[in-house]
Amino acid sequence: MKSVLIVYKSKTGFTKRYVDWITDEITCNTIELEKAKKEEINDYDIIVYGAGMHAGHILGLNKFRKLIDFHNDNVNNKELIIFATGAAPNTDEIVSQIQKNNLREDEANARFFYFESGISYEKMSGADKTLMTAFKTFLKIKSNKSNIEEGTNMAILNSYDNSKKENIIPLISHLNKLIIEE
Ligand SMILES: Cc1cc2nc3c(=O)[nH]c(=O)nc-3n(C[C@H](O)[C@H](O)[C@H](O)COP(=O)(O)O)c2cc1C
Repeated sequence: MKSVLIVYKSKTGFTKRYVDWITDEITCNTIELEKAKKEEINDYDIIVYGAGMHAGHILGLNKFRKLIDFHNDNVNNKELIIFATGAAPNTDEIVSQIQKNNLREDEANARFFYFESGISYEKMSGADKTLMTAFKTFLKIKSNKSNIEEGTNMAILNSYDNSKKENIIPLISHLNKLIIEE
């Protein structure tokens, strides 16, 4: 059996909820990115990183990369999985754009999953609220919006929560296969 660690960053709680749903189904340890130490995390066979989307970027991914000694290491049989939670709906177009903008070439073999979440203005920091206001204004006045921008424009007006436990099913199936692999 392979060991699994989930490292995560969650500012308004959506990613943490997905982490909790994953730990309901899989035996693994979890640690917040801010508390993770290089010496502790590289012993695991499978490392999962999860965080929310922030203006097109997966939060904390660069910091996480500095902690791990491998990206997808076929030699040592180690596996890296990355997931992101975001307000945007889970469409092929959006998921491949997130992947293209965030994953590096040496992470091409790492599996990526995207889970739709929502927006929580109640739990958002002051700085993020200001950023969202600027983003809303930008989208409102922009002409010739792309499909993604049109969807985002509607999605970010108010707080909402579209997270669902069933969204994790593909990740759980993938993990279950990896855990028993020799
Ligand atoms: C400042 C800001 C920027 C965001 N940018 C995006 C984005 O680019 N794409 C997206 O799908 N969601 C975006 N969101 C929504 C968050 O990604 C979503 O709420 C996420 O699940 C937050 O995760 P957390 O609560 O674990 O931090 C943004 C939210 C904030 C506050």
